[in-house]
Amino acid sequence: MSTTTHAPKAIDPSASLHAEALGLAKNHGRLAGRRVIVVGAGQRTTVDEAPSIGNGRAMSVLFAREGASVACLDVNKDAADDTVAQITGEGGKAFTDVVDVADVAAIAPAVERCAQRLGGLDGLALNVGISSGLSLPKMTAEAWDRDYAVNVRSHMLFAQKALEVMAPGGAIILISSMASQRAGGRNPAYESSKAAQIALGRAIARAGEDKGIRCNVIAPGFMDTPMGRDASRRRSDRAVTVPFGRQGTGWEVAYTALFLISNESSYVNAHTLFLDAGHMGGIVRG
Ligand SMILES: NC(=O)c1ccc[n+]([C@@H]2O[C@H](COP(=O)([O-])OP(=O)(O)OC[C@H]3O[C@@H](n4cnc5c(N)ncnc54)[C@H](O)[C@@H]3O)[C@@H](O)[C@H]2O)c1
Repeated sequence: MSTTTHAPKAIDPSASLHAEALGLAKNHGRLAGRRVIVVGAGQRTTVDEAPSIGNGRAMSVLFAREGASVACLDVNKDAADDTVAQITGEGGKAFTDVVDVADVAAIAPAVERCAQRLGGLDGLALNVGISSGLSLPKMTAEAWDRDYAVNVRSHMLFAQKALEVMAPGGAIILISSMASQRAGGRNPAYESSKAAQIALGRAIARAGEDKGIRCNVIAPGFMDTPMGRDASRRRSDRAVTVPFGRQGTGWEVAYTALFLISNESSYVNAHTLFLDAGHMGGIVRG
């Protein structure tokens, strides 16, 4: 048996880093006049001096650049306000709404309030997601329930209310994770709640079909967001075999979300899109 270890082959990561991946592309009014709620529209603070953009902030900013009015929901007012400031500073339309999605009673009123302020509702992006990071031996019932309340229960409650108030022909997206398919993180509440989102997405699509409302799920892989960097600080080798020699960006999540929430994807429904540069398909560097 060979004990030789191989360093991953050299690759120029910039070969796949297009203007879209960096949030620098021109915009085309792909969501002109649409009214969208993004849940988890802020982003966590990190130790990084130059933090990358998170998924929720990137999709809020991109939706607004493409012409949508965006309700930025978050438990952290400052984080949501920063997203709104970026949007309005670029001439877009957005406002903050503070809600803790673990609070069952807060969700339906938040959807109603935001839809009223937006003048209707065409899109809902359920980005919020947390992780206790506890392995199976260390898991507690409280930590398990907290992850599930935020990652799954809140998505069900948001979708339930949104299906009631949303205009026919609207779209809902959920942000799951590649962790839904793998035990690599030793993180069972996160992994199983992310897998549950995939089934929930199909159930929402089924319930929305009468009104022509679609629901799809994005499952990102290794992303260079503040959340991803936190994970890499815990496990520095977690993404060494990633395709293209780089992790994905929050903008790449946002562009996928833009397609799925816009009318461009009008026949894409109950689908899960793995946004992982092919990693799940066996494209592994090394
Ligand atoms: N590496 C990655 O970035 C990665 C990979 C796969 C999947 N994901 C998924 O992407 C989503 C998050 O990405 P992000 O970059 O926006 O993360 P983030 O942690 O930077 O931001 C999420 C936002 O959610 C808010 N939030 C947390 N708990 C809340 C609550 N109880 N009520 C309301 N808001 C709350 C936070 O305040 C924060 O502003 C999650 O669903 C996560 O599972 C991320």
